[in-house]
Amino acid sequence: MHTDAAPDSDTASDPDAAPDPDAALVVDAAPDPDAAPEADPDPDAATDPDAAPDPDAALVADAAPDPDAALVADAALVADAAPDPDAGAPPIVCVPGPALSLRAAAECAGVLVGAAVARQPLADEPIYASTLGAQFNAVVAENWMKWPLLNPNRGVYDWGPADLIVASAVANGQRIKGHTLLWHEGIPPWITEDIAPDELESIVLEHISTTVGRWRGVVAAWDVVNEVLNADGTLRQSLFLRKLGPGYIARAFAAARAADPDAVLLLNDYGTEDLNPKSDAQLALVADLLRQGVPIDGVGFQMHVNGAGPPAGWNVAANLARHTALGLTVEISEMDVRVAAYPGTFDERMAQQARVYHELVGACISTPACTTVTFWGFTDAHSWVDSFFGEDDPLLFDANYALKPSFHAVQAALLGLPWPLDEEPVVDPPDPENVLVNPDFEDGTRGWVVWGGALSTSADGPARGAAFLRHTGREQAWQGPVQSVLGRLEQGTRYRAEAQVRISGAAAARALLTLHIVDAAGDRYVNLAGGDVTDGAWTLLSNEVVLDVEAPVTTLDFYVEGPPPGVELWVDAVRLVPSP
Ligand code: XIL
Repeated sequence: MHTDAAPDSDTASDPDAAPDPDAALVVDAAPDPDAAPEADPDPDAATDPDAAPDPDAALVADAAPDPDAALVADAALVADAAPDPDAGAPPIVCVPGPALSLRAAAECAGVLVGAAVARQPLADEPIYASTLGAQFNAVVAENWMKWPLLNPNRGVYDWGPADLIVASAVANGQRIKGHTLLWHEGIPPWITEDIAPDELESIVLEHISTTVGRWRGVVAAWDVVNEVLNADGTLRQSLFLRKLGPGYIARAFAAARAADPDAVLLLNDYGTEDLNPKSDAQLALVADLLRQGVPIDGVGFQMHVNGAGPPAGWNVAANLARHTALGLTVEISEMDVRVAAYPGTFDERMAQQARVYHELVGACISTPACTTVTFWGFTDAHSWVDSFFGEDDPLLFDANYALKPSFHAVQAALLGLPWPLDEEPVVDPPDPENVLVNPDFEDGTRGWVVWGGALSTSADGPARGAAFLRHTGREQAWQGPVQSVLGRLEQGTRYRAEAQVRISGAAAARALLTLHIVDAAGDRYVNLAGGDVTDGAWTLLSNEVVLDVEAPVTTLDFYVEGPPPGVELWVDAVRLVPSP
């Protein structure tokens, strides 16, 4: 909850600072009030029929269709989920408005929408429990299934608080995900640095089989390992890695599968949402686990986002797609959007937050194997962000449980509608054949990323339209603007690749249009077109190539590259089109 208008910690106010939940977790030494097992929970709270909301009540969305919905009535669908004949509930009408719960909107999309649950407000605040039940069809315990809380002393398990969360979820028909079996920040204090490797191995395996077995058939999915990667893509030097070696990840998944063959087993991390070295490494890691026959079913992308510098939805969608190309499901697992560092008035911050939620939830909705969007809480009255990043308002309901713009934006994303609801989606200049988005940079840098240096656009002498792309601060010849075209090209098809290219900082240099392919045949760079480009005039690079890939294709990146480090690369009018 935001109680102070001044921007807060450095972390929260630096848009470039990659959110490092770990930094925050160190503060965790002082336990979250919710995590503090002081007050005895009210055992009735979870089972009290008055407190337990009727989830169906929220599903009767057609009770009062929003008159504004006419604007988008064409897009409205009736969810084909067969209504339960016993419940007698009418079908969900997928029309946006305050009467449509998020769980009903999620049913319209065929996905689950979840929230992390804190035990104290679940027990103490009836409106917390009723909102959770009415709005979400999936939950995860924010803290109470973490190892130190379940198993505070050797041989001693305290299932009680987690069981209350489980009972509430069962009463509300919500999918339960367990979080998390192995996490470097979640090691009980009785396991110390001097432990022998074989003893740690047996403790780890026993913890997994005991915990997963305890809720076999009830907890439907598990974050088996959490945050195992560093930002540079190397494996984190956790106690597990140091004592057990990199094979601990595979063995943890195998133990979880043995304890509950039906549970969906996930690897979960932060900072892997965007196309970047960490997500490249995560993709390679899970591909390797699959090759070894490790029973991993999916990947969770935490999505703790800074609204002042969020990843682009297009890149997140491409990243999700390359993970699902391996046959995995994906989830957004812990989403919140901080906006304390976003300039402007309170209303402008909330509007920005809504846009970011819409774009990133939309990335999941547009990915067929993205099954679930889970938020790390739901009301600004209770969010870890306040204590870890600084005062903020990162969630979908305000501190009084009123619906925020971000609620409506998430609902629109679930329904596949634009945001704001009456806005036309951005359409690129008419070149329907072009598989690239924003190929003329008329919409800023949307859709384009770099692995070094920075992208911006300029209006000072474009080759076409009103703007062109500038890549400054290049540190390697291979660095240049990249767009993922995964899922957009067809095997065996001939494509024409072209771009207008210019440089600044050297008289002339060679530039290339390249396709980076990672598929069953390997990891390679295919040259599409090339030529000498100069300072002072645009040069058209153009050539044709037939796409030759072997499924599964996990990376298909279109690149412009070539000039030496330090030389600015300017790009405009890029086309990648089928060529008859
Ligand atoms: C956080 C909780 O929200 C806090 O209440 C707790 O004090 C520390 O952990 N990534 C994760 C979550 O996987 O488990 C973390 O949850 C947030 C970052």
